[in-house]
Amino acid sequence: MSQENHDLFQDIDRILIDGPQIQERIVGLAAAIDADYADKDDLLLICVLKGGYVFLSDLSRTLQRPHHLDFMGISSYGGGTTSSGAVQIIMDLKQPLNGRHVLIVEDIIDSGHTLSYLRQNLLARQPASLKICSLLNKPSRREVDVTVDYVGFDIPDEFVVGYGLDFDELYRNFPFIAVLKPEVFAHLNL
Ligand code: IMP
Ligand code: MG
Repeated sequence: MSQENHDLFQDIDRILIDGPQIQERIVGLAAAIDADYADKDDLLLICVLKGGYVFLSDLSRTLQRPHHLDFMGISSYGGGTTSSGAVQIIMDLKQPLNGRHVLIVEDIIDSGHTLSYLRQNLLARQPASLKICSLLNKPSRREVDVTVDYVGFDIPDEFVVGYGLDFDELYRNFPFIAVLKPEVFAHLNL
C-alpha cells in the first residue's frame, strides 16, 4: 500500500467518463429524484459500501429535498473482477425501514445479483417505497432482472475503476471513471 496516486495513474488505459460529466449527470439525477419525492416526507438514502461512498456524497449534496442517510456494507466480490453471485451483509443499517421512502444508492449494477439480493432483503423490512439509483449500469452483463429506477450512465462490458469503484481496493479516489490497462489484471487467473 505504499504506492501513491501518481503511480496509479500510470495504470489507466483510458478515461471513460470524466469528472465534469459525472457532476453534470448528478445534477440531472438529483432533479429527477427531487421531483419524484416532492410529495413524500422521510426520504432515506441507503449507501451501499464501499463503492457507493463517493456517489452518495455528491448526490446527497446536490439534492434539494431533506433526506436522511444510512450505510450498508455489502460484499459480493473477492479480489477478482467477476461476481460470484454470493452476497454477504458485512454491516447492517442502524435504523428500521418500515414506513420510510427508501432509495438505494449504488455505484454500479453488473450481473444484478447484489441489488437483487439487497432489494429482497430491504423489502422484507416493509418500507413505504423502495427504489434504486445506480451511477453506472452494464446492461449487457445482467444475469438477474432488477429494475433500476435512476441510472447515471450505461457503460459497455468493461471493468471500470474510480469515483468509488475499486480493483483490489485501489483506485477508488480517482475523480473519474476509467478502464485499466490489461497488464494490471495479468496476475489474476481470470
Ligand atoms: P453485481 O452483483 O454483479 O451486479 O455487482 C455489483 C457489485 O460488483 C458492484 O456494487 C461493485 O462493487 C462490483 N462491480 C461490478 N462491476 C464492477 C466494475 O466494473 N468495477 C468495479 N466494481 C465492479
Ligand atoms: Mg458496490
